[in-house]
Amino acid sequence: MEEELTKQKPLNLPPIAEGGWPIGSAKKFAQDRLGFFEEYVPKYGDLFELTSVFFKLIRHFKKVVIVTGPDMVKHIMQDNNKNYVKSYGYSVLKVLLGEGLLTSEGEFWRKQRRLLQPAFHRDRLASFVSAYAEFGQQLVDKWSKEPAGTVVDVSQGFMEATLNIVSKAMFSTDVGDAMDVVNREFDYANEKLIARITSPFPMPFWMPLPGVKREKESYEAIKNVVAQVIEKRRNSTEKYDDLLAMLMEVEDADTGEKMSNQQIQDEVLTIFLAGHETTAVALTWLVHCLDENPEVVEKLLEEEKAVLNGRTPTIDDLRSLEYTRMVIDETLRLFPPAWIIGRHATGPDKLGEYDIPADTNCLIPVYYIHRNPKYWEEPLKFKPERFSKENSKGRHKFVYFPFGGGPRLCIGNNFALMEMQVVVPMLVRAIKLTKPAGFKFKREPLITMRPTPHMQMEVQHR
Ligand code: HEM
Repeated sequence: MEEELTKQKPLNLPPIAEGGWPIGSAKKFAQDRLGFFEEYVPKYGDLFELTSVFFKLIRHFKKVVIVTGPDMVKHIMQDNNKNYVKSYGYSVLKVLLGEGLLTSEGEFWRKQRRLLQPAFHRDRLASFVSAYAEFGQQLVDKWSKEPAGTVVDVSQGFMEATLNIVSKAMFSTDVGDAMDVVNREFDYANEKLIARITSPFPMPFWMPLPGVKREKESYEAIKNVVAQVIEKRRNSTEKYDDLLAMLMEVEDADTGEKMSNQQIQDEVLTIFLAGHETTAVALTWLVHCLDENPEVVEKLLEEEKAVLNGRTPTIDDLRSLEYTRMVIDETLRLFPPAWIIGRHATGPDKLGEYDIPADTNCLIPVYYIHRNPKYWEEPLKFKPERFSKENSKGRHKFVYFPFGGGPRLCIGNNFALMEMQVVVPMLVRAIKLTKPAGFKFKREPLITMRPTPHMQMEVQHR
């Protein structure tokens, strides 16, 4: 009888994606991360395990499953989110972002999120529209001055504009001379961080090797830019009403303590990085999509003429720039900058019919779900009309989720959407950007999915 009671039902584990010994299906994943999903998801379905005998040896990889079923994704990110923490990759990002909002967990994260949330309230966002327009116009002016046919680095241009925007809106300063450091070091850091995340044996930071030294220097250089912004503020006698002032003044309700310098730095750096690179990459993909779809540009111009007619956009215009918003949504569908989201199960769970043991890593390829032919008609076509109110009705929340979902939803989603809605019409009405003949690039899935090399485009004036 006792034996009966203790007998457990065998687990119903997800199917295992085959691959040769010893590297298994993880080999294809390591070689071609985007191609992997295109090949394996149609074969294995909504949930399957990625294998490699190496995984068994490596604590942080152990069991890795790929989840693409929208109900399963909803279960992980929303309904049963308490059973999940962010996956191993985010802990690697801590070398740069420390315990900032993107990487922290539990009660500490909840407290910080509550604290930062008011800075992203709709009323505050309305006051940022002038910053979006100021730096949007600065970029348009810079490119407009170039003689027709000049090739410009579009990736870089958007990166600079979005960094200045987030800096001005949240910390009342532009980046100034530090822009060169950020431009140089951020590309480098992005590559090194993803190499650490995907490597089974990342090089420890104490190793006295030139590569490791260079990597540490890169992280330090980025942290220094932020430290200087904070230092400048500490030495200023002016009164500010921005996120930085809030972080510096807030006192813990229980202890009355102020936030430590380190914590302020982590939060500020997180907002700096999460708040500009993603949006810059989205704008870069957007102009690529426009170059491929001239009929969409015509419609954008019609809307610009009807709503703005050359004026600088205001908060009240955004509601009327409906088609512009649909173009942004469709770009984020085909090219979601946050192309993959990872979660680690802290306890056992069930996804659909399958058992998920504790310590399973769940990888959610947003990029693939946004293109899965099961949910999207002609998934590879750029069709902004998919996002009209009519056509969006009834769409599953986790078939389209470029900003994530559940409690860890991107805090800057409306910030980014409004920023793009201001910048896009200002850009499109002034210049046309086209890729030079023979220019080749690939989609590179690093921390964000971006074109490599930087997107180059020829400027034509309108
Ligand atoms: C197109 C632009 C953007 C995209 C695609 C994007 C995407 C995302 C996604 C998918 C997450 C959730 C990650 C996860 O669940 O593991 C996230 C979180 C976050 N994003 Fe964004 N983001 C964008 C713009 C911004 C902006 C403009 C800011 C700030 C100004 C920002 C700040 C953050 C922060 C702080 C978090 C962590 C939130 C938390 O866990 O409480 N993001 N973002």
